[in-house]
Amino acid sequence: MQHPIAIIGTGLAGLSAARRLHEAGLPVQLFDKSRGSGGRMSSKRSDCGSLDLGAQYFTARDRHFSTAVQHWQAQGWVAPWLPRLYQARQGQLSPSADSQERWVATPRMSALCRQLLGDLPVQFDCRISEAFRGSQHWQLLDSQGNSHGPFSAVIVATPAPQASSLLSAAPSMAAQAASVVMEPTWAVALCFDEPLDTALDACFVQDQALDWVARNQSKPGRETHHEQWILHASSTWSRAHIDLDKTAVIDLLHGEFAELLGCRIPPATLRLAHRWLYSRPAQAHQWGALAQGELGLYACGDWCLSGRVEGAWLSGQEVARKLLEHRDA
Ligand code: FAD
Ligand code: NAI
Repeated sequence: MQHPIAIIGTGLAGLSAARRLHEAGLPVQLFDKSRGSGGRMSSKRSDCGSLDLGAQYFTARDRHFSTAVQHWQAQGWVAPWLPRLYQARQGQLSPSADSQERWVATPRMSALCRQLLGDLPVQFDCRISEAFRGSQHWQLLDSQGNSHGPFSAVIVATPAPQASSLLSAAPSMAAQAASVVMEPTWAVALCFDEPLDTALDACFVQDQALDWVARNQSKPGRETHHEQWILHASSTWSRAHIDLDKTAVIDLLHGEFAELLGCRIPPATLRLAHRWLYSRPAQAHQWGALAQGELGLYACGDWCLSGRVEGAWLSGQEVARKLLEHRDA
């Protein structure tokens, strides 16, 4: 019997690898510490509907990724988003329309990963704390002390800081993952009963506490009568306020938002904050994916490439390619 390949992480990188290996006829078993798939493409369900607190949209510059996106569009999993785009420089708002194609999953960002997961075997609420190799096969240990396995290979598809300890069987890979610095992002969602009196749907902000704001329901497929706004703080501000409590973060970023828009902001009916500790690598890499084929240990994730949705998907494809190549050698 063929032992499955363990994939730790059901963000886009892990699912991209899982799909490719499944299509090649190999059994996979996925694990995630969270309650569902999506990772940093997850959406928060709330009384005001689903809110995209992590990735906001994605672009497709790579030919292979564009082909995948077209396929997803044909399935109805993603759609183009055409926001009324603005930029803010030195506090000055100005329209900033461009011709860049931007995509979102529908009806919420997490839906793409949910579709890619399909009915692949997965265990949620399962934080893997150790991966070790016996004489021939891999075993995983979770934080509850449960053992999982045997597996023919292990793919670590978590953010780099969480990957390094899982890669300890291959010290050079562990060191490479440990060398990646990942920046935090504070994200805030605000919902209102009435539309805000502003023309913009999304805005790139420079040189301020905020980095990005978007009207969530301007994305296609969001069926809601609520006015939903997502605010992202810059990496610098997020790092400087990393241990602030959520209420204080919301108050400060709410104030920045009101100042940015310069319009009357009614009381919010819902205010929530989420701290992404490892939101983006401080710099892009060209690693594709990490592999020690003879050991059967692999790693992928956005941190191996561009630190974006596209990079995560491409890294997952690359790790699967490396694993298949080693197997066929
Ligand atoms: P992740 O999505 O982080 O997936 C890793 C998974 O591993 C998670 O589900 C996690 O729960 C799981 N995990 C971790 N440790 C363990 C463990 N020990 N055991 C089991 N499971 C574990 N990209 C864009 O292209 N456009 C954007 O607009 C954009 N905006 C962003 C805004 C924010 C606030 C953030 C945080 C990210 C944004 N990104 C954006 C980046 C994008 O979200 C990521 O590049 C991409 O989603 C990363 O996918 P991944 O699979 O590599 O990692
Ligand atoms: P993109 O090409 O739309 O944006 C790249 C960057 O170019 C933007 O961040 C912005 O600074 C600038 N830009 C693009 N169009 C602009 C316009 N019309 N007016 C003014 N500035 C403009 O998308 P790409 O390259 O796919 O990047 C994805 C987005 O995800 C970026 O905004 C990036 O900052 C964001 N991101 C956020 C993360 C986080 O943790 N907060 C992590 C990873 C990505």
